[in-house]
Amino acid sequence: MQLDPKVRVIGVASGKGGVGKTTISVNLATALAKSGKTVMLLDGDLGLANAQLAFGCQVKYNFSHVLAGVKTLEEIIITTSSGVQLVPGASGLQELASLTSLQAGVMLQGYESLAADYDYLVIDIAAGISDSVVTFLQSCDYRFIICKDEPPSFADAYAMVKVLKKNAAGDNLYLLPNEVSDEAHAFRLHNSFNNVTNRFLDFSIGMIGHVVEDEAIPMAWKKAQPVVQLYPTSPAACNFRQLAKNVNALLKPKVNLTELT
Ligand SMILES: Nc1ncnc2c1ncn2[C@@H]1O[C@H](COP(=O)(O)OP(=O)(O)OP(=O)(O)O)[C@@H](O)[C@H]1O
Ligand SMILES: [Mg+2]
Repeated sequence: MQLDPKVRVIGVASGKGGVGKTTISVNLATALAKSGKTVMLLDGDLGLANAQLAFGCQVKYNFSHVLAGVKTLEEIIITTSSGVQLVPGASGLQELASLTSLQAGVMLQGYESLAADYDYLVIDIAAGISDSVVTFLQSCDYRFIICKDEPPSFADAYAMVKVLKKNAAGDNLYLLPNEVSDEAHAFRLHNSFNNVTNRFLDFSIGMIGHVVEDEAIPMAWKKAQPVVQLYPTSPAACNFRQLAKNVNALLKPKVNLTELT
């Protein structure tokens, strides 16, 4: 009998590019690791990967070497200074950017089995709504949709939710407002978004947390470290620790049958 894996898979997506997926994936993973959890971060932005830049990691091998048969999945994993295990993507490889949904599914299965005993597998999903993006999100247990309070971001986040609902990936979907001025602003954005999903998709979406606009974030990017590690007292770092708390509270670990015997 195969045991249910312990790992909880969280996809971080947005539809629109440049709204904070990598920043949030890296800092959420780091905050979860700092809360005592074991975390693997998969850079699912395979063609334009940059999670390794946020961690300041030198990457020699990536998923293209796995596809070429030069390395195994396990061999390309890097341990970052924050304790997160990073699976790097590649940059500038078109064939990886346009992975078919079948290839994306096979790759994910491999990592899910490698991460089976971890608490969390966080996936930084590429922008857009391509087949591989949808496949990645279908395989997640939880989906966090990043949204800024700007019409293009709002529209693309809504389009993403619509596509996910249509493709049997509409469960455990949460909005995560980014670059808001404060918590009240995040609630207002969530309220507007929820009104639209209720009206047009007959569906209510929850909010998992929020991140304020904070200059510490671009500063941390420049110094190639997660903001929660480099500027732990910054407003954004506080938001990421709260986000990790919300995630730990929401995603209770699966009961492992071996622990009951
Ligand atoms: N809360 C924030 N406050 C200030 N700047 C932010 C915040 N979140 C993200 N940024 C900035 O926005 C830019 C884009 O962030 P990021 O790379 O995380 O977005 P992305 O969604 O992963 O982009 P892509 O779609 O290209 O992968 C970065 O320069 C980052 O410093
Ligand atoms: Mg990114």
